[in-house]
Amino acid sequence: MCGIFGYVGKRTNAGQLVIDGIKNLEYRGYDSWGVACKRGENILVEKNTGKISGVDSQQFAEECMQAIAHTRWATHGGVTKENAHPHVSTDSTIAVVHNGIIENYQQLRDELKKKGHTFLSETDTEVIPHLIEEELQNTEDFASAVRSACKRCEGRYAILAMHTTSQTLVAARTGSPLIVGVSPEDGYFIASDIPAFMEYTRTVQYLDDGEMVVTDGQSILFMSIETGEEHPKREIEITWTIEEAQKGDFDHFMMKEIMDQKESIARAVNQDEEQIRVVAEAISKARGTFLVGCGTAGKACMASEYFFSVIADHHVNFAPASEFKLYHHFLKQESLLIVISQSGETADVLEAMKVAKSKGAKVLAIVNVEGSTIDREADYSLLINAGPERAVASTKALTGQLAVLMLIAYAMAGKLREGKTLLLETASLINDMLNPRYIRRIEDLAESIKEKEDLYIIGKSWNYPMALESAIKIQEVSNVHAEGFAGGELKHGPIALVEDKTPCIALVGNDEVTTDILSNTIELKARGAQTIGVSPSNNEAFDEWIKVPDAGHAQALVNIIPIQILAYFLAVKRGKDPDMPRNLAKSVTVK
Ligand code: M6R
Repeated sequence: MCGIFGYVGKRTNAGQLVIDGIKNLEYRGYDSWGVACKRGENILVEKNTGKISGVDSQQFAEECMQAIAHTRWATHGGVTKENAHPHVSTDSTIAVVHNGIIENYQQLRDELKKKGHTFLSETDTEVIPHLIEEELQNTEDFASAVRSACKRCEGRYAILAMHTTSQTLVAARTGSPLIVGVSPEDGYFIASDIPAFMEYTRTVQYLDDGEMVVTDGQSILFMSIETGEEHPKREIEITWTIEEAQKGDFDHFMMKEIMDQKESIARAVNQDEEQIRVVAEAISKARGTFLVGCGTAGKACMASEYFFSVIADHHVNFAPASEFKLYHHFLKQESLLIVISQSGETADVLEAMKVAKSKGAKVLAIVNVEGSTIDREADYSLLINAGPERAVASTKALTGQLAVLMLIAYAMAGKLREGKTLLLETASLINDMLNPRYIRRIEDLAESIKEKEDLYIIGKSWNYPMALESAIKIQEVSNVHAEGFAGGELKHGPIALVEDKTPCIALVGNDEVTTDILSNTIELKARGAQTIGVSPSNNEAFDEWIKVPDAGHAQALVNIIPIQILAYFLAVKRGKDPDMPRNLAKSVTVK
């Protein structure tokens, strides 16, 4: 979590530049913010609680050619001004911003305190500038001191560090993402994610784990944290455009990204067919295929258990990445791990990959962010091509993930073309569905249920993981207590929760389980629930009907869309900001 952004180069407004840029990383954390600007031989730090988007960057317009900034999602230490980054050394000559967790910070802090260092915050991060300060007693070279300090830190980190008397900006990563933006005209930008500097350059260099960089704004050196050995780094041109990363005319990224599904699903489907066949063959040959993801991506994995079973007659095993330990001892050289992640940076997923690789298993990643750690570390990688997803609530990434997984299932069944046709037709149905009238219809439904504090969603087959996903969507943005259930499980407990007029949504398809899920809906209605059917056809089981097109095996992709819209409007009508849900951040880079 947390976003960091630093700049050094020819531009003279570094402070303002990093504040403006880090506003594009606010999805990574919005508890508090901070900036450190180097002016002559002084470092000026300004920080506070609250959202970075509310900060007027003009106040940092004064001349400065090196600056670092931070937007925080609190882990160690509450949301206070003192705990906001940057943190500085005892003599205030070193400033550091950090994303990640220093696991041995307690021990380091005790040791440093004994040596006379004073700590002003409760954070793990604060040990870093103090460690660097300590190391500067052994060397005059700032980069060497940062390197030695990093070697003492255990855990996951991406840091940016600067010093009053050094012209260089130093960055290092172990476990948390860090990307360099290269601009011959402007200098070097270093950030947790590309949107921070997209305005200036689309030429990037990715730091790998255990790497650090040292730059004075004119040139840059990549080196190993462990050995200090320097090495060259490839420059990559990214394909995402600045327009894709912006809200445009929409009030919120969430709605913009829901609407992006008019095109993003088709982009996900248009994969290189040969590559899909290679992946399908790898799954067929593997002795044990495991799928892991977190949150929404985890629900895509779960849905794929149904796709592989129904479409390809193949068994796969799903576990949320944080629960993957259950399967560790089944992993062998012949196993295949499929990891799904929008960001490509989720810590639990990376951990699962690490374990699988240590057992010699192969890893296939299905990701959205090209060049992310998961994308680069997997043996094979497929991109869903959804374009930047900025809202914390994942929408277009999910439908892209579902489309790619379904395509692979069809390829395994030897029916890739058939699958592709079905999915492209579904993409076109979704395009038609996302019209202003349809959206207004769901807005009206949100208006009618916005005061309800409990809401249940049921589904069967692939609509069951979609019921779970619906609950995540509604919970995270509107804070309504929403829960998803398998329709058949209702009468084994959850039905006791239903009271008079409790809204209960049934996700229905036109398939062999339709009769069962409609019976479950009738059971809810009989207990006084207000039943809302998301279904291709109306039924007496529904008090309200949200019509969706009949998409056959691809119904999961279609049925989730009205729920995404409903979640959005519930949030807005309940006075919440759907793009910045309480307690959440987009990229979960801590375990
Ligand atoms: O970037 P990832 O897909 O790995 O993220 C996984 C989850 O953190 C994410 O899907 C989360 O559940 C979303 N906020 C849900 O909308």
